[in-house]
Amino acid sequence: MSVLHEVTDTTGLRLDLSSRPPAGYLTAQTSIRAPIPHMAEQPIVSISNLTKTYASGHQALKNINLAIRKGEIFALLGPNGAGKTTLINIVCGIVTATSGTILADGHDISRQYRDARMKIGLVPQELHTDMFETVGATTNLSRGLFGRPPNAAYVEKILRDLSLWDKRKDKINTLSGGMKRRVMIAKALSHEPRILFLDEPTAGVDVELRRDMWNLVRSLRASGVTIILTTHYIDEAEEMADRIGVINHGELILVEEKAALMKKLGQKRMTLQLQQPLQAVPAGLVEWNLALKADGCELEYTFDANAEHGAIAALLRRLDETGVGYKDLNTSQSSLEDIFVGLVSERSIDKQIGGRQAGNKQEAKA
Ligand SMILES: Nc1ncnc2c1ncn2[C@@H]1O[C@H](COP(=O)(O)OP(=O)(O)O)[C@@H](O)[C@H]1O
Ligand SMILES: [Mg+2]
Repeated sequence: MSVLHEVTDTTGLRLDLSSRPPAGYLTAQTSIRAPIPHMAEQPIVSISNLTKTYASGHQALKNINLAIRKGEIFALLGPNGAGKTTLINIVCGIVTATSGTILADGHDISRQYRDARMKIGLVPQELHTDMFETVGATTNLSRGLFGRPPNAAYVEKILRDLSLWDKRKDKINTLSGGMKRRVMIAKALSHEPRILFLDEPTAGVDVELRRDMWNLVRSLRASGVTIILTTHYIDEAEEMADRIGVINHGELILVEEKAALMKKLGQKRMTLQLQQPLQAVPAGLVEWNLALKADGCELEYTFDANAEHGAIAALLRRLDETGVGYKDLNTSQSSLEDIFVGLVSERSIDKQIGGRQAGNKQEAKA
């Protein structure tokens, strides 16, 4: 599992890249999903010029503009402290915005709060619920709080979907952490929301629950629910999302279709296992983007995944001509993690040299 937090790198961004996925991870495990057919024109959530400055003076969100499409799974990705929870809590009415406008299914979240909130389910990052209540009662109560009439069949369905039905008479404080998290989801779904926010749904959960959660999210999406999830697990965004937004230091630095993002920014790597180690990249090979790895035993060629069809053949020919022998080669494609790290560090370099305008991939497009 790769995680984006906890270690401060030289750019000041807190990153932990200690558990990178293996090379070839993306190609091996990710399927690029086709666009969702039932996407509507009108965004289901629209966020305009949103800013948030906490009483402490900390500016947690800086002029966020974002339109969430009906029926999509949108992953908001960013390191700890980026502003993900603040953004979600504002849309859900838990935190007050400093400025900006938010519409949820056409309802202004401040002027038409009840109508807006009715459409929204929230699974918060922190577990908080009445621990002495039973699973069934708390789910029914949540539904009632939204003014929905009781619906035993619906509540039974969500409890069954979440594998909570057998536990419905158990008090929440007797459940495991994973089960408690499922209860939070049952509560969030109790009033049949059309928009579901999941704030770090799989942080610290076991593999089984993570898989169940992903399946649940997919089936909810299939039933027409729009899903916005935050995560600092890059592979979660890679696996789940139709679109990805990257937030860093309160700024939305990118919004992009996942498939397009991978395609546009994806790099491929070819690694050659050399017969004899080299001290340096031979002068005759300077026109390729090559690096020596593994104490000179490997030659690594990095190239744009969408271009340079003839370049590999030309490079291999040149290696022959130069007398550089190799015994094996393999190629791999960069993961979203590589893309993210490249993006954020590129940006911080830009800032250091005075905000030079860089490529449009850094502009938030929504
Ligand atoms: N109630 C608060 N008062 C002051 N600062 C806060 C408060 N809540 C969050 N922050 C700060 O705002 C920033 C964004 O926090 P948060 O939205 O929780 O980030 P994320 O969910 O991306 O980790 C952090 O620097 C955090 O310390
Ligand atoms: Mg958070």
